[in-house]
Parts: sequence; C-alpha cells; structure tokens
Amino acid sequence: MAGIEIAVIVGSLRKDSFNRKLATGLAKLAPADFAFRQLRIDDLPLYNQDDDGNPAESVQRLKSEIRAAQGLLFVTPEYNRSFPGVLKNAIDHASRPYGKSAFPGKPAGVIGVSVGAIGTALAQQHLRNVLAYLDVPTLAQPEAFVQAKDGLFDADGGIGPAGREFLQGWMDRYVAWVRRHAG
Ligand code: FNR
Repeated sequence: MAGIEIAVIVGSLRKDSFNRKLATGLAKLAPADFAFRQLRIDDLPLYNQDDDGNPAESVQRLKSEIRAAQGLLFVTPEYNRSFPGVLKNAIDHASRPYGKSAFPGKPAGVIGVSVGAIGTALAQQHLRNVLAYLDVPTLAQPEAFVQAKDGLFDADGGIGPAGREFLQGWMDRYVAWVRRHAG
C-alpha cells in the first residue's frame, strides 16, 4: 500500500508544548507507511472574511497541506474549557471560502494533554462539534485524555513507559481507522 500522509495540527504555539511533544511521540508509535507532518499555524493572520478572495501565502499553504493529506490528527490543549483560539483560527481559515473547504471527508483523530485531571475532555468535545460541521469524521473510541505527568515522555522524544501501552493502543485504532477511510 502507498504511504499515508497525516497532517498534524497542534493547538499550542508554546515552545515546550506538551501537546507538541505528544504529537511527536505519537508519530513514533505508527507503522512505517504512515508519515506524520506537523503543520505550521503560527504565521496565519487572524481570520478576516474580507480576505477570502486574496488569502495570505500561509493560508494557501495550510489548505494545500490539508488537501494533500489522507488523514488529520488534532493534538490540542484545553484553554478555559475549550480548544485554543489559535486552533480555531487555523480551522476557520482552512474551511473557507464557503464551498472551498479543505476538510470534507478527511478522517481525523482528536487527542490532547493538559495539566488538569480531566485534561482536554471539554476541549476535545468542542473540537469534535466543529469538525462534525466541517464533514470531518473523527475516531470516536478510544477517547484519550492525557494528563501531563513525569515519565509521559522519554529522553528521546518518544512516549515514556507510563503512557506507552495506552497510547500504542490508541494509535493502533487510529491507524486502522484511517486505513479504512483512505480505502
Ligand atoms: C490553561 N490550562 C488548562 N488546563 C485544563 O486542563 N483545562 C483548562 O481549561 C485550562 N485552561 C487554560 C487556559 C489558558 C489560557 C492557559 C494558558 C492554560 C493549562 C494547560 O493545560 C497547560 O498550560 C498546558 O501546558 C497547555 O498545553 P501545552 O501548551 O503544554 O501544549
């Protein structure tokens, strides 16, 4: 089977983001024919519908990267019981202009890590709502609400022993599900 490209969108711009580390670590749990690429969203302008006819280079790039991918992976923190504005901004850009969304039909995983005990549950729920509207099917189970703890990551940027079994199980289900959608 030809390689499967996954566009990864991380909802944090923070340099030492746990979610970026989670995205990097998860990619190492995937089979060799899966290629995960983290997309840049920190150079997108704030979405303004007036610019729909003349989108910035960064917006065009984001949309073509999403279109080229067979699957999506959203790795998001929770900000004030929702997902961060930077992620919503990126999604709004890639969904517009009306009728020219980059999203329809792309299978997506939704996962996240936070410092809180119910970490990212509400952020993920809000994100799933938005993705449903955009015709992005999301892997429903297993859900993964990861709490940032010592040992979550190893020294090489992989998933540490504390979360490896659970996250490997999550990745296996995600991979099988993307393969089904990618046909
Ligand atoms: C947070 N944090 C947070 N955590 C959580 O579990 N639920 C929440 O609602 C919030 N709200 C929130 C708002 C804002 C503005 C910030 C900056 C932070 C804490 C959050 O989990 C923590 O900062 C993570 O480290 C953010 O993820 P990254 O940047 O490490 O990927």
